[in-house]
Amino acid sequence: MATTTEIAAAKLELETLARDIARHDKLYHGDDAPEISDGDYDALRRRLTELELAFPELSSIAAAAHGVGAAPSARFSKVKHAIPMLSLGNLFVESEVPEFIARIQRFLGHPPGSAIRFAAEPKIDGLSCSIRYENGHLVRAATRGDGEEGEDVTANVRTIADVPQILRHADKAPAVLEVRGEIYMSRADFAALNQRQAAAGGKLFANPRNAAAGSLRQSDPKITASRPLRFFAYAWGETSRPPLGGHLGMLEALSWMGLPVNPLTTACASAGDLIAFYRDIGARRATLDYDIDGVVYKVDDLAQRETLGFVSRSPRWAIAHKFSAEKATTILRDIEIQVGRTGSLTPVARLEPVTVGGVVVSNCTLHNEDDIARKDIRIGDTVTVQRAGDVIPQILGPVLDRRPAEARPYAFPTRCPVCQSEAVKETDDSGELAVRRCTGGLRCDAQVVERLKHFASREALDIDGLGEKQIQFLYDSGRIRQPADIFRLKAEDAKRPDRLAHCEGFGAVSVEKLFKAIDERRTVALDRLIYSLGIRHVGRTNSLRLARHYGSFDAFLENASSPTGRAALNSIEGVGQAAISSLDRFFSDETSAIIAWDLGSMVSAIPLATARQDSPVSGKIVVFTGTLQRMTRDAAKSGAELLGAKVSGTVSKKTDYVVAGPGAGEKLDKAQALGVTVLTEDEWIALTAADQPTTADLVTTEGRA
Ligand code: IVH
Repeated sequence: MATTTEIAAAKLELETLARDIARHDKLYHGDDAPEISDGDYDALRRRLTELELAFPELSSIAAAAHGVGAAPSARFSKVKHAIPMLSLGNLFVESEVPEFIARIQRFLGHPPGSAIRFAAEPKIDGLSCSIRYENGHLVRAATRGDGEEGEDVTANVRTIADVPQILRHADKAPAVLEVRGEIYMSRADFAALNQRQAAAGGKLFANPRNAAAGSLRQSDPKITASRPLRFFAYAWGETSRPPLGGHLGMLEALSWMGLPVNPLTTACASAGDLIAFYRDIGARRATLDYDIDGVVYKVDDLAQRETLGFVSRSPRWAIAHKFSAEKATTILRDIEIQVGRTGSLTPVARLEPVTVGGVVVSNCTLHNEDDIARKDIRIGDTVTVQRAGDVIPQILGPVLDRRPAEARPYAFPTRCPVCQSEAVKETDDSGELAVRRCTGGLRCDAQVVERLKHFASREALDIDGLGEKQIQFLYDSGRIRQPADIFRLKAEDAKRPDRLAHCEGFGAVSVEKLFKAIDERRTVALDRLIYSLGIRHVGRTNSLRLARHYGSFDAFLENASSPTGRAALNSIEGVGQAAISSLDRFFSDETSAIIAWDLGSMVSAIPLATARQDSPVSGKIVVFTGTLQRMTRDAAKSGAELLGAKVSGTVSKKTDYVVAGPGAGEKLDKAQALGVTVLTEDEWIALTAADQPTTADLVTTEGRA
């Protein structure tokens, strides 16, 4: 038990820390003028967490510091890996396994058929991490990052129960030992976490890997501590004492020192052994409590590894044998049609729930009517469902020999199921993609409600507390019909006997909060306001272009509402024909034009900061690829555009910079082949840091920065 004096001292320290952190947050986020390094800032936060964990009774003081600041990921300091963290080459078919071994034999100068000892391990689908021990004590943990430099996640990794803070037999451990392995989340823990998130109205994770990554990359280790992360060691980096006994011997030593090593790891001596391992693990895959996406074969002998070396960024002595996408069969119970914001009719398959790759799938989209016809998918069919990685599940096709006799080809509706208007089929330029669209426009309840949902959504006006359910309720009870009504809601509500505060699902407090959130959006960034109209082909980027071009909502409306103004749209760089035709259609419809003008009378728009001519990247062509960790792709793009760069989707000789995050593939290869400068996200931030758009600029495009 802590004494009163200890508590008093901790209270004082916490108060000072919370004040300091709040000040540094403001300097960093609000003023763009940090006074301390990211490392020092992290130290403050770590100390805060330490005290918070030790004195839970004081947590309200620390809570004040958690509320402030945003973009916490920018706060991880960088760690240069003493030995780079490499990736693995892949093979997908069993027939390539003997070729992998033959390559190794050739390289080592061994006769074909000579035995080479391998270690075979499951390939865990998590994120890799390097954990450094000095004299048996955990001193640093870092993510892989770009392989050369990762993020310092020491405080967070310290919260993982699987990872010892002090090695077992620490006195016999090498003075320096970098343990490498995979941080992951078990399937059961993932499901429970998502349930908790759903109950708390929080973000749901798509799969255990995303959940593990999201949980590890938290600025607040307390959150990481509350997430059930696990660890398997399977490699090492710097060691002060050379490992004895090959890979398997080293794993044994790691296990002896208290690190978890995957129990399915097996010694193999031939292609036959490796393939048998692959098949065995493949067969057990569904019963494992963690996701794997293949197996890894590694040469066991460390001297042989030395000789084999590397090809580009992967070792010659190891390879990943990946599983193909996961498939399952189930029964298609029904096909329902959903009507989207722009009238598109999307068929949704209602399935008998089935687990594919550890995820329960009970419905999935069927793309469009041609797809259903081409695959001849019928209600009642047994269908094959596939899920690959993060990808949304898809139906591959029916299992014909299990088709019930009464199953008839599916007749796609030619009328909107909601408003009964005619639904016409559209093809794209190539005549390929066929989408049927309801022609009801704003006469169709579904389209109106979808537009309202879009209007209030995060990317558009971002009105807190006005989610899909509330919008449906407000629409059904006749309170809102169009976006401008949202801003009249408070005044109208006061006149009604059935005030919202009396309605189910709306407490007095939540109604007050909702009105407050609506009031906060009476002034918004111009590009958001344009985007909020939900005009087809006028997404975030085009909205930004239109905002930049017209400078005010009135100027936009005036030009878009007159045929001559609309004719001039094609002079705006980047705004293509599809968007122009769509704007034309939207504004030549009197009802939608009135709705837009009405909205303009209720909301004032903040003009956009203009693109800079003098930043280090003005006029440069930039391509973003891979997963960005510190900002969303949209934020990166609009930030770059505000600095005067041109953002492109394809790499060519003309490209000045390719900013590559983890998972970058073809674009990165092409950039390297063409000799285009490749930057990590951090390097990009460093390059543009002094000129980064201010928080105020970003608020106009990115909401609360
Ligand atoms: S060995 C130089 N072993 O797969 C070899 N990697 O695609 C370093 N992974 O970045 C990696 N399970 O995140 C190795 N048993 C295993 C693994 C494994 C999962 C991940 C790791 C690596 C990625 C490469």
